[in-house]
Amino acid sequence: MITISKLTKTYETKKGMVTGVDNVSLTINKGEIFGIVGYSGAGKSSLLRCMNLLERPTSGNVTVDGLDLTGLKGERLRQARLKIGMIFQHFYLISQKTVGENVAFALKAARLPKGESIKRVDELLKMVGLSDKKDVYPSQLSGGQKQRVGIARALANNPNVLLCDEATSALDPNTTLSILRLLKKINRELNITIVLITHEMNVVKEICDRMAIMQDGRVIEEGDVYDIFSEPKAELTKEFISSVVSFDVPKPILAACTGSIIKVQFKGAVAGEGVITDTVQHFDVKGNFLHGTIEYIQEKPLGLFLMEIQGDPANINRAITYMEGRGAKVEVIRNGL
Ligand SMILES: Nc1ncnc2c1ncn2[C@@H]1O[C@H](COP(=O)(O)OP(=O)(O)O)[C@@H](O)[C@H]1O
Ligand SMILES: [Mg+2]
Repeated sequence: MITISKLTKTYETKKGMVTGVDNVSLTINKGEIFGIVGYSGAGKSSLLRCMNLLERPTSGNVTVDGLDLTGLKGERLRQARLKIGMIFQHFYLISQKTVGENVAFALKAARLPKGESIKRVDELLKMVGLSDKKDVYPSQLSGGQKQRVGIARALANNPNVLLCDEATSALDPNTTLSILRLLKKINRELNITIVLITHEMNVVKEICDRMAIMQDGRVIEEGDVYDIFSEPKAELTKEFISSVVSFDVPKPILAACTGSIIKVQFKGAVAGEGVITDTVQHFDVKGNFLHGTIEYIQEKPLGLFLMEIQGDPANINRAITYMEGRGAKVEVIRNGL
């Protein structure tokens, strides 16, 4: 478990003091994948770097598995840090060393006997699917393969925690997906707690259990990923979600709609369309779908539909009440014209 308590990080710059992280408290449970989302400059990297004391917090504490890192110095801090792996957007591989040598280099600190070190490198490369690239140089690898080397290196010393700073931001969507799957496998098979920062809500949707949203150095919302997707509170959270689930309807189409426009959300079951069909049959209203999607978040469906509903206002109200009775959340976006 990682406990961040009242953490603030300020930087002295030529232009004065800049706040990177502003009084953040967070708890990250053992074995979970925790996502931190925010726009550039929100303080995500500052917070992550404070979590392994790559950067010393200006105030506040970071405790990992009961050990207060902020109280450690020198050799004890170095030892504690070996148990926290980190990967980066730009990989930071040593270009003069082969893939195998890059991974072996991370093992140096653990001072393993040579035979064991060779065995461990093979094991790590197998884990990330790069056994055939051991003697190749980083320049000969694709972005995704480079990140796999980064991951193998980060896992070298059997960490309990893996910190990922925009680890997929330099990759194309397919490669991103394959790296996210690898991270999930590492999380499940090795029981490593993963903290992942990203500006892409899709990444969070794909693999995170819980998440926090950061703005101006602060955490403005946090919770279970499914709950946040289905009941976002902050405006910024809604904005991030709309990048995954967008309900933009072209203006001419909206202008041609004379009925009421409603947004219907179904949680947990794929029964949404059925309920809507029943509603239309029973309440003498006419429904036109303008948008519809079922997102799967942590393998749970979240159905979202935007529709025009036409008919007598009293019937429309009854129809809405009926849908709500069957578990839908209905929001009237615009009343009929
Ligand atoms: N080493 C640094 N020196 C001065 N200011 C910094 C430094 N690192 C980050 N900052 C500032 O802290 C704020 C948060 O930055 P950062 O943590 O990199 O955000 P993010 O990772 O969300 O883009 C920004 O205003 C940034 O300019
Ligand atoms: Mg950053």
